[in-house]
Amino acid sequence: MIELTSQKDAALAAISGADTLDALEEQRVGALGKKGWVSLALKTLGQMSPEERSEAAPAIQAIRAEVADAIAAKRQALEAAELEAQLASETLDLTLPAPDMLSGSVHPVSQVMDELAEIFADLGFAVATGPEIEDDWHNFTALNMDESHPARAMHDTFYFPDKAADGGQSASSSEAVGQKRMLLRTHTSPVQIRSMKEQGAPIRLIAPGRVYRSDSDATHTPMFHQVEGLVIDKDIHLGHLKWTLETFFKAFFEREDITLRLRPSYFPFTEPSVEVDVGYSNEGDRRVVGGHGDEQGYDWMELGGSGMVNRRVLEFAGIDPDEYQGFAFGLGIDRIAMLKYGMNDLRAFFDGDPRWLAHYGFSPFDQPTLSAGVGARA
Ligand code: PHE
Repeated sequence: MIELTSQKDAALAAISGADTLDALEEQRVGALGKKGWVSLALKTLGQMSPEERSEAAPAIQAIRAEVADAIAAKRQALEAAELEAQLASETLDLTLPAPDMLSGSVHPVSQVMDELAEIFADLGFAVATGPEIEDDWHNFTALNMDESHPARAMHDTFYFPDKAADGGQSASSSEAVGQKRMLLRTHTSPVQIRSMKEQGAPIRLIAPGRVYRSDSDATHTPMFHQVEGLVIDKDIHLGHLKWTLETFFKAFFEREDITLRLRPSYFPFTEPSVEVDVGYSNEGDRRVVGGHGDEQGYDWMELGGSGMVNRRVLEFAGIDPDEYQGFAFGLGIDRIAMLKYGMNDLRAFFDGDPRWLAHYGFSPFDQPTLSAGVGARA
């Protein structure tokens, strides 16, 4: 016992003298570890007579507790000191300039889609969407382009491998057969069909979104954007179409001197069909929408297609063409974005170069976009 007491005194002195956590740990192992002197002392209890043991056990336990407490107290003190030292050495200089940070911006296409939705919302149009992986029936057949229609060839379609193992032979209607063949939609017009089938007439909507064609050069990319417009009611005529497009372009390009030219054309899904041209003039090497016909260099540029919805399309979509009629249009979003914001290479739209985006992108905070909330305008 006397020996233990002096070991304890020595240990307590060493513990209080430990100046690092490592030195303290050494003391802990030496005393309380498996082969530490306290543990060894506890083991001797087994060989003692009951009388001896009843006297020795509490004494050894008391020593053990005293050493353990001393170690715990010293550990706390050492940890606190370490933290103090760290706080003192790692000061933060708040006057240093912060490192540059890339901030995100709204892509011009997203910006223009928001602008479109806002302008057409003012005209009472809802926004509709449809799948980009579309079936043959919605993309072509229901738009009056059956399997053998030559207009299909103009679409450079990305088809998926046939998915029906039975080649569609067990399907009963032409709609079911066509629906089995999947493709990337080549235009936003299938949203016309889906919306008419879902909600019937009357209808007034736009459908902005991505479309795909196997085509690539300075003015064509395999993925691009269109906005579809569709109005169906009992007495809609071409005059409504022209007014709607003219009103839209005036609001979008923010000028009054905008002239449209509707040029006779052909689309299987509209009859009659017209191409939509807008008058532009040149400012330096930049084309600017608007101006006057007598200006030098004033010319027409095609922005999209449109027309009165073909009766057959209404029939395919389950609407009675003797009761309802209407117009549809499809505009290239990328092209009107380039015109409004003065960009000249379509491919840059899809390169994702942060320098281009920093230059042409929009701040999400100071632009009134739908995503930032229309109310943000006020
Ligand atoms: N879908 C046609 C295209 O992509 C455009 C269009 C839409 C034409 C609606 C007429 C009516 O070329």
